Amino acid sequence: MKPKKRVVTNRSTAADPYAAPRRRPALAGPVQARPRGPARSDAPAIPVPSRVADVDLSVDLAPARPGALALRNPILVASGTFGYGVEYGEVADVQRLGAICCKGTTLRPRFGNEPPRVTETPAGMLNSIGLQNPGVDAVIEKYAGLWATWQTPVIVNVAGESIEDYVTVVRRLDGVPGVAGIELNISCPNVGKGGLQFAVDREAASAVTAAVRRATDLPLMVKLSPNVADVRAIAKAIEDAGADAISAINTLSGMAIDRRRRRPLLGNTYGGLSGPAIKPVALRIVYEVAQTVRVPVVAIGGVSGLDDVLDFLMAGASAVQVGTAIFADPLLPERLIDELAAYCAEHGLASFRELVGVALPKGRDRPSVKGVEYRP
Ligand SMILES: Cc1cc2nc3c(=O)[nH]c(=O)nc-3n(C[C@H](O)[C@H](O)[C@H](O)COP(=O)(O)O)c2cc1C
Repeated sequence: MKPKKRVVTNRSTAADPYAAPRRRPALAGPVQARPRGPARSDAPAIPVPSRVADVDLSVDLAPARPGALALRNPILVASGTFGYGVEYGEVADVQRLGAICCKGTTLRPRFGNEPPRVTETPAGMLNSIGLQNPGVDAVIEKYAGLWATWQTPVIVNVAGESIEDYVTVVRRLDGVPGVAGIELNISCPNVGKGGLQFAVDREAASAVTAAVRRATDLPLMVKLSPNVADVRAIAKAIEDAGADAISAINTLSGMAIDRRRRRPLLGNTYGGLSGPAIKPVALRIVYEVAQTVRVPVVAIGGVSGLDDVLDFLMAGASAVQVGTAIFADPLLPERLIDELAAYCAEHGLASFRELVGVALPKGRDRPSVKGVEYRP
């Protein structure tokens, strides 16, 4: 019998093992550096920032309310991973951040789910904290006064089980000094609809956004769930209902097994998957949503380095939130601000905004009709 031929490949394990040999494409960096000085003698000179300090990192996340959510930079921290901002005061310089999205806040205090509530996964973690928080009145009393003295805006992440819940919480936050904006966590069960999450039901997502919009003039960002078949119609309904910005994504629904005890590991059985493992999903959703809405899109999901920030910006995000990675490295958000500025200076970009959406299909008014279909 002839011995089987061993197939030797020098490709990395992540390379497509079925790929036919192709001609090597022309090398091109993600962004071509602008030529310094005029390319042609009749072309006007383009001012190119030579110093990191000259790079414009500012971004307005609620352009319809000019200045109301104007950030100094596009690096935010994600809800549930940075507490109320005060917890990291000793370690990180919170004044440098673009904005802080605080822990999910509900009408009444919540003690959260049964333990265990977190577990590590390959390239990520599962959590089922269950929105543990002291309730909106305590949040205002304990933190808002301090937030009002910060130059970093604090966006309060709001959760509820009914539209009335959301509206009541937002009414209490409206006009409170120190509260710069609202992020609606709509990945919560809508008790009136048999527990179906607001985020997975276009009508409910639209209704809660519209009701909150009527209740406040604060900048309003609504956070999408990835746990839907097609997020685009939901994103459009949220924009039409008056959201100033859309953040994407919340965690992916998952679970883990405790093999020794032969049962689900988390006290709540299900948990939300976050971390680098979810980045490709988040990137795909940001790319789709950025083609569907005109309001700013704020990317969340697995950001752990500058490359992730660049990918999300190129896919159409106007800003990014750093989440799970903060647990391992609380200084990461600050470092990303510096690294983004350095990248822009090095590539001759006056503002990071020049990167936003460069990887989107051309012609924003003709969104890609490609769905999430793929053929493995
Ligand atoms: C421990 C933990 C708690 C979270 N709590 C909230 C929350 O209260 N409200 C919310 O909207 N998202 C919450 N999230 C989701 C994050 O804000 C973020 O959307 C998600 O983790 C994906 O980003 P990442 O991969 O960078 O962590 C939480 C995530 C983690 C890991």
